[in-house]
Amino acid sequence: MNNSIAEINTYAKKWVLAAGERIKESFSKTLDIQAKSNPNDLVTNIDKETEQFLIGKIKETFPSHRILGEEGFGDKLMDLSGVVWIIDPIDGTMNFIHQQRNFAISVGIYIDGEGIIGLIYDVAHDELYHVVKGQGVYMNEKELPELRERKVSESIIALNATWVTENRRLKPELLAPLVRNVRGTRSYGSAAMELVYVATGRLDAYITPRLAPWDIAAGILMVKELGGIATDLRGKSLNLIKENSVLVTAPGLHQEILGGYLKDGNW
Ligand code: IPD
Ligand code: CA
Ligand code: CA
Repeated sequence: MNNSIAEINTYAKKWVLAAGERIKESFSKTLDIQAKSNPNDLVTNIDKETEQFLIGKIKETFPSHRILGEEGFGDKLMDLSGVVWIIDPIDGTMNFIHQQRNFAISVGIYIDGEGIIGLIYDVAHDELYHVVKGQGVYMNEKELPELRERKVSESIIALNATWVTENRRLKPELLAPLVRNVRGTRSYGSAAMELVYVATGRLDAYITPRLAPWDIAAGILMVKELGGIATDLRGKSLNLIKENSVLVTAPGLHQEILGGYLKDGNW
């Protein structure tokens, strides 16, 4: 690799902030909204334009870097060799359309499969969450503290009610005891934001049966940097080249949830 991590990081931060400015400008314009896999799986012209903007910058400055982007303007990747940018231009598109908040730009940068840089930009609140492996996690200029040990009985977990009732594998009967025993459950509609909330301690865990690499590439790096744990629902390592089930927790909680509540699932 010819570029230093510091150099890649500087550009990544600048481009994500610039992409956020473009998204803010779109707030006063009419969106072009289309459905993808089903009527509730939405994409807008701004999702596409944001991905194209970021890819244009990356290809111009770092032509050898490869890109995995949700909207398909990047490369077709079979592995994570070299420098790979994993981009979700707008995570939480439905929130972006309906609420103009609770969405984020998410960019994870992996080098030979290892997560090195993560950026999640909460555009509506002007909060840029940022990690460089081994150098801590920052919200704008403020460093986030290490995560504290938690127990199920004192935690708030993120769960999506639709998945709990409709997903054949995330069975309601398995999750009911967990929902009963936690302090509370939440659902924000943006995986990137939910992962950031685990990193900040606003949530203690996030559980979901299926996410794409671009939903989690940046957020899991932040949680892990602060001592949290990120695996699939069987406790296995996440694979960023395919979809995964996801269990992300503060320390202490992972084994309690996995061993106590999820062990009988057919994930
Ligand atoms: C979605 C959001 C949502 C999650 C979905 C994702 P998108 O991403 O992260 O919270 O439940 O599985 O697809 O489509 O808004 O980028
Ligand atoms: Ca997403
Ligand atoms: Ca998206």
